[in-house]
Amino acid sequence: QAGVFTYDPGFTSTASCDSTITFIDGDEGILTHRGYEIGDLAENSHYLEVCYLLLYGELPSPKELEDFENRVTNHTMIHEQMINFFRGFRRDAHPMAVMVGVVGAMSAFYHDSTDINDEWQREVASIRLIAKMPTIAAMAFKYTIGQPFVYPRNDLDYASNFLRMCFAVPAEDYVVDPILSRAMDRIFTLHADHEQNASTSTVRLASSSGANPFACIAAGIACLWGPAHGGANQACLEMLKEIGTPDRIPEFIARAKDKNDPFRLMGFGHRVYKNRDPRATVMKQSADEVLELLGVENNPILQVAKELEKQALADPYFAEKKLFPNVDFYSGIILEAMGFPTSMFTPIFALARTVGWISQWKEQLNDPQLKIGRPRQLYQGADIRPYVDIEKR
Ligand code: SDX
Repeated sequence: QAGVFTYDPGFTSTASCDSTITFIDGDEGILTHRGYEIGDLAENSHYLEVCYLLLYGELPSPKELEDFENRVTNHTMIHEQMINFFRGFRRDAHPMAVMVGVVGAMSAFYHDSTDINDEWQREVASIRLIAKMPTIAAMAFKYTIGQPFVYPRNDLDYASNFLRMCFAVPAEDYVVDPILSRAMDRIFTLHADHEQNASTSTVRLASSSGANPFACIAAGIACLWGPAHGGANQACLEMLKEIGTPDRIPEFIARAKDKNDPFRLMGFGHRVYKNRDPRATVMKQSADEVLELLGVENNPILQVAKELEKQALADPYFAEKKLFPNVDFYSGIILEAMGFPTSMFTPIFALARTVGWISQWKEQLNDPQLKIGRPRQLYQGADIRPYVDIEKR
């Protein structure tokens, strides 16, 4: 049928590729990074250690981890000149629009790490991106709420630094709540990488042309923004708020089943998982923990989410279509309880996924079979025909 893509051999080296980074078994609901299950990593590891694992293939020794964390910590500031770039945006710009622009503009500020053929420059670009994404995301947030930028601190861990850059104000001291920091770090870990999802495939396709790392990651951010992908966490919370109370759930389930209604349950379904998204399981546990520790365990939106999940999973339609909550179903509830507006949910997803994009970008550059991604198509349009002068039309 029209527009069906067939991939030429060159494209398969970027679209369906061999990889040693992440394994997903959609039928069994299994997700591993370099062989370690996501539940194990979320429980026992922390985000920068998972970054090391994704980038270099093995869990670090204590010395390796210390060196890696120091390298990231000491690259968290952005070039001061970039602040002028931020000031060019309207104050009501969506933080994702700012992130796409600023990360792409890093190509213009960090010339000494754009040569993809130089191993050392690839390493420098990788560290710069992982280190600076929290700073850029926090600045995008501060800019849209009209508050002054808060600089990173080297005495804070990665998640604490991000929370402080988002919520501290010069007018008073800000002490990071370790509970929120642990929850933030776990959310980063759950979003770190996910095989060949749309945004990662976008990064690989951009990389196959030889584009610089900052341009490739900016392409990934742009793709992630869509509500069917990374934008689903924002769309899901907005949906839960629209539902409002458990008694309205049947109405929305009916809409989701109605083929004539474009409405879909946000945070439900997945291209690969046909059993359960293991990340959603951990996220749900985290939501219970964080909201209880924040004293908002009776949050009505959490109750709506749990009742919606219960009723949807009991409905034959969702069982038949193998639809389950995905990573985006509970994440927004936690992020809102932590104080983030819905507009910051996808920037946080992008921040966390940067290490996955970079790991896959590096793996691709090391692929000897690499050719430029160049999909083909089955042409279904008009046959060749002569031009007709306008007087004769
Ligand atoms: C992410 O790929 C990744 O790994 C992505 C991600 C990552 O970490 O990078 O996991 C992150 O993007 C998670 C997904 C977030 N998106 C949402 O929550 C948006 C709502 N979900 C849907 O848009 C949908 O489930 C997709 C886009 C995720 C998948 O869509 P598909 O490919 O159509 O899903 P499918 O083939 O499994 O659908 C089977 C059927 C279809 O009906 P039929 O054509 O067979 O009649 O189920 C229907 C779909 O229409 N369906 C839904 C539904 N999701 C699929 N019906 C109602 N509500 C839904 N959410």
